[in-house]
Amino acid sequence: MYNYKTTVSEGENANSFNNNLIELMEFIVSTHHSFVRNALQKILNYSNQVELNNLIDKPNELNGLIEHLFQDMHNHMEKEERILFPLIKYLVETEKFGERPKTRNYGTVRNPIRQMLSEHETALEIIKKIRNVLTKARNDKTNNDPLALLFPLISEFETDLQKHIHLENDILFPRIIELENKLLHT
Ligand SMILES: [Fe+2]
Ligand SMILES: [Fe+2]
Repeated sequence: MYNYKTTVSEGENANSFNNNLIELMEFIVSTHHSFVRNALQKILNYSNQVELNNLIDKPNELNGLIEHLFQDMHNHMEKEERILFPLIKYLVETEKFGERPKTRNYGTVRNPIRQMLSEHETALEIIKKIRNVLTKARNDKTNNDPLALLFPLISEFETDLQKHIHLENDILFPRIIELENKLLHT
C-alpha cells in the first residue's frame, strides 16, 4: 500500500467541495482525467524516441511498462466515467428526490469501487517499476540527457495521480458508500 497522501496539497481536500459529490466528480474528470490523457500521450511519444531507447539496456521493458500504464489508465477512466460516476450521480439524485435506490440494476456501489481501488494500486505499482528502470539507466550511463527529460514527466504524472487517487479513495468513494447505506437503511 502506497502512502499517496503525503504529497497531496492542502487545497484539494474534502472542504474544497463542500460535500458536493457531483462537483467533485466534475473536478476529477476535467482536471485529473484530462491531465492523465495528455500526460500519458506525451510520455508514450517520448519513450518511443530512438535516442532514449539507445540509453536503456532493456528499452522493450520500459516501453512495455509505459504502454501497460497507458492502456490501464485509459480503461480505468472509461469505467469511472461510463459506469461508476453515473451510478454515483444516480445515488446523489435519489437522495435529492427522497427516493430509495433501485439496487437490483447494479447490486451495490461497493462492487465497482472495489475494482477501482485495485486498479489504483496497480497503476502506482507500474509507475514504481518505470521509475526503477529509469533510475537504473541513469546510474549506468553518463550521457543521459533524454532520460533527464523523461524523469520529470514521470514524476509530475505520479504526483498528479496521487492527488487524483486521494480524492477518489478518501473522499468520493467512502462518502458514496455512506450515502448508499443511508438510503438503503432508512
Ligand atoms: Fe479517476
Ligand atoms: Fe480512479
